[in-house]
Amino acid sequence: MVRFCDSQARWGAVSVGTMKALVYHGPGQKAWEDVPDAAIAEPTDVVVRVDTTTICGTDLHILQGDVAAVTDGRILGHEAVGTITEVGEAVKGFGVGDRVLVPAITKCGRCGYCQRGMPSHCQTVGGIGWIFGHLIDGTQAESVRVPYADTSLYAVPAGVTNEQAIFLADSLPTGYEVGVLAGQVRPGDTVAVVGTGAVGLSAILTTGLWGASRVIGIDTNKFRLEKALEFGATDVVEVGPGTVADVIALTDGLGVDVAIEAVGYPETLLTAASLVRPGGSIANIGVHGTPVELPMQDMWIQNVTLTMGLVDTVSIPTLLTMVASGRIPAEKMGTHTFTFGQIDQAYDVFKNAAANSALKVIITPA
Ligand SMILES: NC(=O)c1ccc[n+]([C@@H]2O[C@H](COP(=O)([O-])OP(=O)(O)OC[C@H]3O[C@@H](n4cnc5c(N)ncnc54)[C@H](O)[C@@H]3O)[C@@H](O)[C@H]2O)c1
Ligand SMILES: [Zn+2]
Ligand SMILES: [Zn+2]
Repeated sequence: MVRFCDSQARWGAVSVGTMKALVYHGPGQKAWEDVPDAAIAEPTDVVVRVDTTTICGTDLHILQGDVAAVTDGRILGHEAVGTITEVGEAVKGFGVGDRVLVPAITKCGRCGYCQRGMPSHCQTVGGIGWIFGHLIDGTQAESVRVPYADTSLYAVPAGVTNEQAIFLADSLPTGYEVGVLAGQVRPGDTVAVVGTGAVGLSAILTTGLWGASRVIGIDTNKFRLEKALEFGATDVVEVGPGTVADVIALTDGLGVDVAIEAVGYPETLLTAASLVRPGGSIANIGVHGTPVELPMQDMWIQNVTLTMGLVDTVSIPTLLTMVASGRIPAEKMGTHTFTFGQIDQAYDVFKNAAANSALKVIITPA
């Protein structure tokens, strides 16, 4: 059972003022407008003042009307770094004034999936851990109510800036968990990453942690390929008629050990499948909107593994440690900065990322 109050219930909560937030009003419609202040609804909640937020490709999918669960009136966004301003009476681990990372996944910490380390399917918060800007109001707002704060939030270490921590809310754990860890990258491996957007670049940035010897970035966008080299790729291949042959020529002739798909189109998953050697892994990260026909008649005999899934964000503590030590330069993800008042412009730049040489945008109150 969903125990959150929805936006209607929130109207009934004790709320003294208004704040600004980016509200979804159906496909193609959004507005930065006045809404009631975020407020505690359950004893396990906190309220976080949003100091930094960003936009995800998924927000663009929502605005295209692709995510039916997001309804008119919902505040968008599922990534934030902020400061706690109110604490529910059952919250033990956080206090007012704490600087925290609000991750894309909310977790109760107790259900069977949370206990198995798979909070992406937390049954308590609604059957799926991604609830901000989806099932409850999100983070593209001056403040946000955070349920299950003790088990969901992360304290941001003093040495980590907001502009670094924000990318640990979603992109970095996604590339690492659903790409590098699921694909089981091992020392000496050759890894191909199809799609070098924020998520693919996050995979490239963290592939070296597992000792990959060669990392090949593949994209249609030259700017993104330049970024891939900056993020640690040893080689890049611009998509063309000979992509598969070009990549295989960079291996011992048999293909890559791990092919990571970070786009979400049938053709890019097929490219990833064509690149992998017998016994290798294909780690699909992309969100697919249409069926994909895989050549199982060729694949069955290759002993390949195919993985997929929603990020759990359980790697955040590890990633925070490595950002703090300088091992992961997370700040490289942010290419443009906007204020809340410029949020429409931020969406336009992010939506037309190739034309604007954009990767991720950083949005702050002022
Ligand atoms: N599984 C999860 O939990 C999860 C979480 C977050 C995002 N995602 C998904 O990961 C994918 C990547 O996200 P992102 O934010 O990096 O998106 P993005 O749009 O920023 O990046 C996609 C990249 O793919 C490239 N591309 C497009 N067509 C291509 C082609 N034919 N061949 C090679 N490259 C091509 C684009 O130029 C771009 O650089 C999306 O599908 C997103 O929805 C999944
Ligand atoms: Zn996201
Ligand atoms: Zn749970």
